[in-house]
Amino acid sequence: MNNLWGGAVADAARELNSSIAADSRMWREDIAGSLAHAAMLAARGIISQADGEAIKAGLTGILADIESGKLAIDMSAEDIHTFVEMTLTERIGEAGKRLHTARSRNDQVATDLRLYTRRRIDELLELVRGAVAAIHDKAAGYKDAVMPGYTHLQRAQPVTFGHYLCAWAMMLIRDAGRLADAKKRMGQCPLGACALAGTTFPIDRQMTAAALGFDRPALNSLDAVSDRDFCVETMAALSLLMAHLSRMAEELVLWSSLEFGFVTLPEGYVTGSSIMPQKKNPDMAELIRGKTGRVYGDLMGMLTVLKGLPLAYNKDMQEDKQALFDALDTAALCLGVLAPMIAGMTPHRSAMRKAAGAGFINATDCADWLVGHGVPFREAYAAAAELVHRGKPLEELTLEEYRAAHPAFDGTVYDAVDLDACVRRRRLPLDEELGYIEAFLQEQD
Ligand code: ARG
Repeated sequence: MNNLWGGAVADAARELNSSIAADSRMWREDIAGSLAHAAMLAARGIISQADGEAIKAGLTGILADIESGKLAIDMSAEDIHTFVEMTLTERIGEAGKRLHTARSRNDQVATDLRLYTRRRIDELLELVRGAVAAIHDKAAGYKDAVMPGYTHLQRAQPVTFGHYLCAWAMMLIRDAGRLADAKKRMGQCPLGACALAGTTFPIDRQMTAAALGFDRPALNSLDAVSDRDFCVETMAALSLLMAHLSRMAEELVLWSSLEFGFVTLPEGYVTGSSIMPQKKNPDMAELIRGKTGRVYGDLMGMLTVLKGLPLAYNKDMQEDKQALFDALDTAALCLGVLAPMIAGMTPHRSAMRKAAGAGFINATDCADWLVGHGVPFREAYAAAAELVHRGKPLEELTLEEYRAAHPAFDGTVYDAVDLDACVRRRRLPLDEELGYIEAFLQEQD
């Protein structure tokens, strides 16, 4: 396929210059943008009604034919904009050549990419919702399953599995908020900014912006064609999302090990070893953890491309799509696996309980009992530490042993170090947490 600008690039340069391998996936957005632009040109009398109708019919036909597989995108075209416009002209002749009036590929690509990203963010928000729903349901089923909470990966204080899982949901709810926020800031339509300085034609930018679902036209034409903040913001939100997925994945790897034994991952989300018949490897969790690096790389790549670019459009910007698409695809892929993996995992109450029973995770509660009986915290801390050093679970110490550590102890300390009581007394607002998560799941954006 030829170029829109008439000249030719050297064979050696063709591959470097071409972006169709990445941007062909924006064909829907490119056609939508052209339909809106052509309708506006006709409404303003910049092209004739007849040409407007011909363009509309031509573009609608191209859309249908790509959709049905009848028309294959020609990968020798420079980019998707070239392919759509040249195909249109091939099909409808003269009128097709009028489509690009009062437009440049610079405002066109900036519009297409925003439209595409907004659509993908909606998809990702659905996927995040799916993961949050899976976490919520599992948390609700294991509200009271006592397990050790950790700091420094050392058993620290007792929590419940339900409470633990809700922490994951909270991270994802913030991620959803960041993605929705990035989408909101993508609400200004670049169309009409043209190459960089707007146009002398009497276009109606409100009309195209509204037709494409944007809030309004972008005000500054130089900014409109060269802003790729929205790519960076989206990738930053995705990077943080991946950081969270990766932390969850790491815990699934740990918990499903024989050392922890807190959960069994579902069939279909673990793999066997070709040499060790007993193995069930948490490959999917590991890959989610591993793919996180890619998304960080995409973000760093984009930031680096933008650094020091003069206004307005520079061809460097063509590098935006590969990075952004990779980040979107990777996050979607990982969320799509993590949600059913969480939904299908089997938690083991007894293993969690057993782990909670060792490691003195009720030592703070023991010290707190003394504090409740008038002992200063530092003194109480020292007495509890002395008890811990005896090496026996606190529930099994005799009252004499307690009294040897501090004379204030009496028989009610046994209620204080009981694990279930420890968790109950913390008054973790689990029902409120679950309610908050449910409210998020019911939200319409
Ligand atoms: N393929 C280009 C991109 O992705 C479209 C814009 C080309 N504009 C130009 N002035 N060469 O950025």
